[in-house]
Amino acid sequence: MSKFKIVAKTFAGLETVLAGEIKALGAESVTVERRAVSFIGDQALMYKANFHLRTALKILKPIAEFEVPKREDLYIEAKKIPWSKYLAIGKSFAIDSTVQSEMFVNTMYASLKLKDAIVDQFREETGKRPSVNPENPDVRINIYLMGNHCILSLDSSGESLHKRGYRVGQGDAPINEVLAAGMILLTGWHGERDFIDPMCGSGTLLIEAALIAKGIPPGMYRKSFGFELWPDFNESLFAEICNGEYEKEITCKISGSDISIKDIAIAKANIKSASLSKVVELKVEDIINLVPQSPGGIIITNPPYGERMKPQSIIELYTSIGNTLKNRFAGFEAWIISSSLDGLKSIGLKPAKKIDLFNGALACSYRCFELFQGTHKQAVIIKKRL
Ligand SMILES: C[S@@+](CC[C@H](N)C(=O)[O-])C[C@H]1O[C@@H](n2cnc3c(N)ncnc32)[C@H](O)[C@@H]1O
Repeated sequence: MSKFKIVAKTFAGLETVLAGEIKALGAESVTVERRAVSFIGDQALMYKANFHLRTALKILKPIAEFEVPKREDLYIEAKKIPWSKYLAIGKSFAIDSTVQSEMFVNTMYASLKLKDAIVDQFREETGKRPSVNPENPDVRINIYLMGNHCILSLDSSGESLHKRGYRVGQGDAPINEVLAAGMILLTGWHGERDFIDPMCGSGTLLIEAALIAKGIPPGMYRKSFGFELWPDFNESLFAEICNGEYEKEITCKISGSDISIKDIAIAKANIKSASLSKVVELKVEDIINLVPQSPGGIIITNPPYGERMKPQSIIELYTSIGNTLKNRFAGFEAWIISSSLDGLKSIGLKPAKKIDLFNGALACSYRCFELFQGTHKQAVIIKKRL
């Protein structure tokens, strides 16, 4: 099978975890880039990347790379590509763009020029043209234009890979599935210890944790991937990848709670849809009253950031999260993501680690708090003695 360059796109801050996932699939020449990881692989690896990677949003297959010294050059260069290799007249296409170029201040203009080049080539050669369908195209083409440098790729994923296929409901602020998986993998957790999300909302972190612990690929629930509509789709190869033995027994407990009855009902429906009802425990509970069921474990949570709350209430909420952790969760490690720095400070614990992440457009800090019995100083002394 021939090998080619593949690019996996992700969120800022998750590049290194994604590179680790890609290496584990056996890729060659894995290179961390800005919000992306590139690697070399064959068709099977491209299918596997779509099916297995938890922290990838898109898997792109670059088909052309060129310089655009003048605006007109985009159309001229794009028209040199033999588009009939990738698209047929009866099929539809859409163009996604990432453009940062003084020549193309209006990013739509770059997409428009690329569309014209494709359509004009078909018209000149056959008198007919493929149609454009932005919502549900047969083939998605990606244009990446940084300054004068342009890369055109085929999008092998189709819809973004965060759309796993298990979600049947969502609360007010569900976390993106790729971000949730990345947050868990950043901690190094793979199911070794009990897992708790005490503000679980629609259950995204719980479901992603269960998938990681059980070794279930995130693509297991997807109805389709973009590459299934490509002319070179190898159905038996993909079936082999999908039909592997994936599910393993887990020994840890995964549990979630939330103050909202409505959110717990939504989480329950999502967990059922992912066939994980036997793996994840749920209850309605204010974090203030939460009591651990085991002597240690990991807490990963995404509390409200205060976007719709009064500043005083956010300080009170984070202070009570801190009090619960300090008073009852000694022996646990807690990881909290928030865009509210005032809130995070009100937890009243010194973070052992801080990682910068984005939740949508919101710049967030993802902080680890190690919860020891007694003071931090005593814990350091005990750790040193061991
Ligand atoms: C940002 S949402 C979490 C979203 C979740 N990660 C998801 O993917 O759907 C924050 C959640 O905290 C819950 N919450 C707020 N105050 C709480 C409290 N005192 N105790 C427990 N949960 C609380 C809210 O009901 C809400 O579901």
